[in-house]
Amino acid sequence: MTSDTTVTQTITLSTREDETWWRQAAVYQIYPRSFADFDGDGIGDLKGITARVPYLAELGIDAVWLSPFYPSALADGGYDVADYRDVDPRIGTLADFDELVTALHAANIRVVVDIVPNHSSDQHAWFQAALAAGRGSAERGRYIFRDGRGEGGELPPSDWVSMFGGPAWTRVADGQWYLHTFATEQPDFNWDAREVRDDFLATLRFWADRGVDGFRVDVAHLLVKDLPAELPSQAEIDAMDAASGSHPLLDRDDVHEVYAEWRALFDSYDPPRTAVAEAHVSNPERRARYASATGLGQAFNFDLMGADFDAAQFRAIVTDNLAQADLTGSSSTWVFSNHDATRHATRYGLPPARGTGKKAGTAWMLAGAPREELDIEGGLRRARAATMFLLGLPGSAYLYQGEELGLHEVGVIPRDRRQDPAYLRCADTREWSFDGLGRDGCRVPLPWRSEGPSFGFGPRGAHLPQPAWFAQYSVEAEDADPASTLNLYRRALDLRHRLQSAERLEWVETSAPEVLHYRRPNGWEIVTNFGAAAVALPAGRIVLATEPVTDLLPGETTVWLAP
Ligand code: NOJ
Repeated sequence: MTSDTTVTQTITLSTREDETWWRQAAVYQIYPRSFADFDGDGIGDLKGITARVPYLAELGIDAVWLSPFYPSALADGGYDVADYRDVDPRIGTLADFDELVTALHAANIRVVVDIVPNHSSDQHAWFQAALAAGRGSAERGRYIFRDGRGEGGELPPSDWVSMFGGPAWTRVADGQWYLHTFATEQPDFNWDAREVRDDFLATLRFWADRGVDGFRVDVAHLLVKDLPAELPSQAEIDAMDAASGSHPLLDRDDVHEVYAEWRALFDSYDPPRTAVAEAHVSNPERRARYASATGLGQAFNFDLMGADFDAAQFRAIVTDNLAQADLTGSSSTWVFSNHDATRHATRYGLPPARGTGKKAGTAWMLAGAPREELDIEGGLRRARAATMFLLGLPGSAYLYQGEELGLHEVGVIPRDRRQDPAYLRCADTREWSFDGLGRDGCRVPLPWRSEGPSFGFGPRGAHLPQPAWFAQYSVEAEDADPASTLNLYRRALDLRHRLQSAERLEWVETSAPEVLHYRRPNGWEIVTNFGAAAVALPAGRIVLATEPVTDLLPGETTVWLAP
């Protein structure tokens, strides 16, 4: 599974002195297939990103996180990796990757890549070898194969349901079954196999040697499993304590042995490579283990994604998360949107039952409400206010491509153009949490120009259909409008470099419960009015406002006050 290539450059940005760059970085997530298409095949590519480095530099971000760009059958948008040490030919080449890293580093932007260790693609050479080698082989030992139940083994080993709906086991030609926590095309690795551990260490080294600054670790809590001979039922699994550390499928204490090895590898580089865990775990103490300095070092916190646009909820989440950061020594992470979630402008524009208030933890995945239910302007107004609240917080801000344009979720995509397995596997049954329209609506290629083929995404079409309303959100349109969301983000990200200081804040009590006001140690202040009615304007020098302010602070508006 190695790629026979030579490392051509290892330009790195920082030295030991600034190895803490990640602690308060603004990290911009690029979903490569949908960012910019250089060669005109309808799929975004690395050369497309390289061509847009000036745009990223002007935006003012500190790092990009690239979602998977590896060879893939695209059964799950690239999270089904067929070769961990190469580039999908539709997206480019390793030489294109090196060129992109060089261009980003020259613009003082760090590079984080996505590592998908829980499962590979069924097209991966190891899985193909496992199929060919047959039961009991060392090749099958790299994945999780079992015999079925029933007289002829015709029933799956257990009744487990995959995260995308449907059974979590699939039968192969010789009658055995393999486990896939996600889609059929994503067989789970067996992390008890030393070979699997060593191969991922080789993959991390491969990208770190190419100058990558950090890694985002997909479903970091799922890798290590302990499956007894007699498998528990799904109901029994659901009733188990997910915080015990000894759950058979998730967040096991022994997964951290894997990350201790990764950390040793990361720390052997100068500067040490960083990592951020995507770990959906049951409580802050469990999450803290992933964020520890002897582990991955940082973990995503998705609490704000599940919150309403509501002062009390925001304040409680921020307070909690800063306290957690104190415990781990890591910095906090803040995120409203990513490639798995309904864009936050849309969430805040939907009635709470359709938008954010449905069911904790699943609400942010709710996509595709009918457009007539959507308060387009209100949603964007609230998203702008919320994001400017977030960008002032201590810690890392993770931003998702297109949110700087104020893009809404694309709700209308014909079924035969949809790609998301979470939708395709659940559309008829409406199972589990993907009971909306799945995740394609936030993955539609970006509009760069107000007209022309694919709104400037590329010289020809786009792999997911773009709606006509994209024209008014294009980079071209927003660049020309001083009040646009794009120009708001640019200004905020620029000011943020001055605002970020010691990783603390102090709440300033306000006379209205719907107004949150905090002060950073260097005197910068952020005030957000979550209510609909205007309130008195706080005293101070306003350097940024999400809506025009007069002598009052309008509803659903954030202002930044400089010392
Ligand atoms: C989490 C990723 O963010 C998501 O896009 C993917 O479908 C699953 N992990 C499986 O890799």
